[in-house]
Amino acid sequence: MPSVYIKTYGCQMNERDSEAVAAQLLARGYVLAKSEQTADVILLNTCSVRDFAEQKAIGKMTNLAVETRRHRPHVVLGFMGCMAQSRGQGLIDQLPDVDLVLGTQKFHRTAEHLDDLLAGRKDKVVDVAEEAGSQGAIREHLLAGSGRKSVSAFVSIMQGCNQHCTFCIVPFTRGEERSRTIPDIVTECRELVAQGVREITLLGQIVTSFGKRDLPTVEGRSPFVQLLDAVHEIEGLQRLRFTSPHPKGYGDDLVEAYARLPKLVESAHIPVQSGSDRILKLMHRGYTRERFLEIIGKLRQVQPGMGLCTDIIVGFPGETEADFEETLSLVRAARFDQAYIFKYSPRKDTPAADLPDQVPQAVKEERNQRLLELINQMAAEQFGACVGQVEEILVEGPSKKNPVRLTGRTRSNKIVVFEGSDRHLGQVIKLRIVRAGSFTLYGDPAIINLD
Ligand code: 5AD
Repeated sequence: MPSVYIKTYGCQMNERDSEAVAAQLLARGYVLAKSEQTADVILLNTCSVRDFAEQKAIGKMTNLAVETRRHRPHVVLGFMGCMAQSRGQGLIDQLPDVDLVLGTQKFHRTAEHLDDLLAGRKDKVVDVAEEAGSQGAIREHLLAGSGRKSVSAFVSIMQGCNQHCTFCIVPFTRGEERSRTIPDIVTECRELVAQGVREITLLGQIVTSFGKRDLPTVEGRSPFVQLLDAVHEIEGLQRLRFTSPHPKGYGDDLVEAYARLPKLVESAHIPVQSGSDRILKLMHRGYTRERFLEIIGKLRQVQPGMGLCTDIIVGFPGETEADFEETLSLVRAARFDQAYIFKYSPRKDTPAADLPDQVPQAVKEERNQRLLELINQMAAEQFGACVGQVEEILVEGPSKKNPVRLTGRTRSNKIVVFEGSDRHLGQVIKLRIVRAGSFTLYGDPAIINLD
């Protein structure tokens, strides 16, 4: 039985793809290796969003090639995912030890290609062609046999993005928007809940555009909101989340869904990217600063405890000090719980890479630092405000830092660590928050109430 080790770079969509590939390989008789040192097959699932992510995976593969070719020449080495899609054969030209390059529409073919490579039927495989219907192929989960009860699961609802933000490589790595059907997604969610899953996160590159091409708006509800309604009905499901949305998808139907659907927890990751209208326009984001703040205001009106997280790019071409200050002031106004900051990285074939006035690296670093300080300060305020409050927590498992403690999340997506016991796993409990650390809350061990 060949053993496989998968290392994942990048976003939750990549994590989910790796999980589906692992489950597929297990079903085909492969086993999962504990480490890359003992694996017969090593796959790197890659990210292309910034050059740094690509260089990390290439560096890793270079090291793997040196190590394995010396002592274990039979090991199959593969790239899959976004960088595999965007670079294709070029990866083997650059690193001739690589045996497999598998694109983002071909995850379901992994076992077939590995069988061929391991049996010596093929020497190299590059498979990055488009495949109709591939958005419905990421459906296997690794719930059974993972050694612990899976409380939370991710479900891929669509692939690709047509927004064409000028900085973004995703339309080239994930292709055109293609959505699964609502019944297909609901079936998968229902099976997960039957296996003990309590929380589902719907995934896609631009989930708010779900079904736009295939389904009509019904009674003012977009196809995405129709999907939320359908998944919400599943009995036994306790929490529903989604990522990533686009701000333009926050019509009143979605805002109202937060008021209407109790399982749709009061949390949103809404990427703003910049606080300057001039830069938002150059990015082709399709909204203004004012509109973004209006959406947040509406969300907080229906759910005052709304937890908000965002992505921000610093140093986009042409970003002046004044533009950057607009971003700082937007962050202050929005009171995010958390934000991921990205230094702009020019990507091949994207319009922004050719814009004039590229920002020097030192300026990007400096803006990154200033923004980080502000985000940390905002987060400390937001997390600090939870101290003394009673929060509803879904208990996920042992805490990473201290496995004697348990960890879970509040409805607003804040991590809570507390002393509990195994019987709390998978339960929704109420705890009083006694302390706030950096991006973590600590709960009183006296559990107030089990659901
Ligand atoms: N440079 C820097 N950050 C980027 N992102 C996307 N493309 C780029 C790029 N070229 C960031 C955006 C997006 C997140 C996933 O990655 O903020 O929301």
